[in-house]
Amino acid sequence: MARPSWFLDELAHAGSEHLDPGYVPVYDRKAETDPADDLDVLRDLGLNETHTLVDFGAGTGTFALAAAPLCRRVIAVDISPVMLMYLREKVTQSGIENIECVQGGFLSYDHQGAPVDFVYSRHALHHLPDFWKAVALARIATMLKTGGILYLRDLVYSFEPGEAARIIETWLANAPEHSEQGWTRAELETHLREEYSTFSWLLEPMIEQAGFSIQRINHGVSRVHSAYTCIKA
Ligand SMILES: C[S@@+](CC[C@H](N)C(=O)[O-])C[C@H]1O[C@@H](n2cnc3c(N)ncnc32)[C@H](O)[C@@H]1O
Repeated sequence: MARPSWFLDELAHAGSEHLDPGYVPVYDRKAETDPADDLDVLRDLGLNETHTLVDFGAGTGTFALAAAPLCRRVIAVDISPVMLMYLREKVTQSGIENIECVQGGFLSYDHQGAPVDFVYSRHALHHLPDFWKAVALARIATMLKTGGILYLRDLVYSFEPGEAARIIETWLANAPEHSEQGWTRAELETHLREEYSTFSWLLEPMIEQAGFSIQRINHGVSRVHSAYTCIKA
């Protein structure tokens, strides 16, 4: 179905680095993501080989590849054709056959078939401004079975506006110097200026408004990362 002209262009908000064929191959080295803790959380929440999981903003697929042996099916969704191409190569090389890679976004992925058991998303929802985050969360709720689980991790600010300067400066001061070692101060500053991480006290009512009950919240010690376990009511 044609989208109205006022609809958000998800690709234009995806982060230019995620669309850059030169950057994507170095992403894994830079991110050094270890999916083990998130897998433990999902296993404790009951993830098993009968389940279907959608990973939104799957990126290079570190989580999707690690989760696939535990599930019946993983649908790895990402708006970036470059990320997805890289992910497809990794899936082919791994020989894993139960991952589907789909180019789409929080707002544009068209889920077909039965509602799913789990939705996972890490460090991706902040690409949407708040109005669109709320729309995306409501869409996720419609894809999940009743009782299904959304495990959402993102850069989320769990402080009051008056504390922003102090907490942000501490975060920036701890950034690595070189880009290969992680996200540098300059890169985090770009995130702050150009992306849409929001306050926890704005995001949490949005999650509930979408039809979830938040079972567990983990605000990281830096107060710029949060993880939410949400059950579709
Ligand atoms: C920082 S990366 C995180 C990738 C992966 N989840 C991880 O934790 O390593 C953000 C990912 O979100 C994707 N993305 C950005 N906007 C999106 C949207 N509207 N819908 C789906 N994916 C999106 C980007 O292309 C990128 O792959």
